[in-house]
Amino acid sequence: MKEKILTWLRERKDYVSGQELCEHFGVSRTAIWKHINNLKKEGYEIDSVSNKGYRLISEPDLITAEAVTSRLTTKWAGRNIVFYEETDSTNIRAKLLGEEGAPHGTLVIAEKQNAGRGRRGRTWVSPAGESVYMTLLLKPDIAIANASMLTLVAAMAIAEAVKKAMGEEHACGIKWPNDIIVNGKKLCGILTEMSAEADYISHIEVGIGLNINIEHFADEVSQVATSMRLEAGHRFIRADIIADVMAYFEKYYEVFVQTEDLSGLVDLYNEMLINCGRQVRVLEQSGEQIATAKGITKTGSLVVVDDAGVEREIIAGEVSVRGVLGYV
Ligand code: BTN
Repeated sequence: MKEKILTWLRERKDYVSGQELCEHFGVSRTAIWKHINNLKKEGYEIDSVSNKGYRLISEPDLITAEAVTSRLTTKWAGRNIVFYEETDSTNIRAKLLGEEGAPHGTLVIAEKQNAGRGRRGRTWVSPAGESVYMTLLLKPDIAIANASMLTLVAAMAIAEAVKKAMGEEHACGIKWPNDIIVNGKKLCGILTEMSAEADYISHIEVGIGLNINIEHFADEVSQVATSMRLEAGHRFIRADIIADVMAYFEKYYEVFVQTEDLSGLVDLYNEMLINCGRQVRVLEQSGEQIATAKGITKTGSLVVVDDAGVEREIIAGEVSVRGVLGYV
């Protein structure tokens, strides 16, 4: 009920009378008053004027289940939210919830992680208050071999949500396969993990670390990391971004599962691909090669062409790609 009142006030952007709220939600004036008071205690600034009603003036930057749910437009993505003020890692929590039977689309969100995990065994430093650490639990009925493409689907959803929030001028894009980049620096990392039996997927955890309002990074990443706030020069309401990531993810996921590959998404992905048409350094165990990136295939491999015009496909996880001069 509190979430519904909040959504109503947010959408109306003006005074809404207590009477109207009572009639719309079928509850007493006292019940409305109590919900409004609880919202105020949580940091929502709500003006109450007799004869006019209530108006939402400002919102705290909360990422609780209520704050996110009141913004969701999805059918299933993020419809079951588990929020932690502090936890070890949302990927660990999502995996355990998956084992306990949590539904497809469960979203685990943490304000702070004390054991945040990055790719290749790295740590993901996760202080409270400024960023988003979340893991989406999926239970897809797809072949194990196709699961890694979900990371690219997530990257597309995040890039789209960030573009919507920051505006096109900030040129947010994807560095293959799944880093979100703004202005040459990394804005977001994705860690996808899978729990599978011999021949079927039990569940998949898509972990997302998105730098939203953070202004200072640890020395070791400060050269390559950025945040939406640093690039745009203002703060963002984190729950808005989470809800949009869920909306875009659900949309792209529905396209992906139809074919179990990226054939319906390749063109859009390639439009977002920062490396597209650029020279890249292809790093593999046998050495390094300079080539030009042409775009991805429907299975998510990157097509590169060398100076002699020879094309080849490189596979995420086996090969890394860097820019010729730096990270991108
Ligand atoms: C990377 O190394 O680029 C991936 C980083 C992924 C970090 C996110 S934060 C939420 C989720 N929980 C974790 O422990 N890791 C992922």
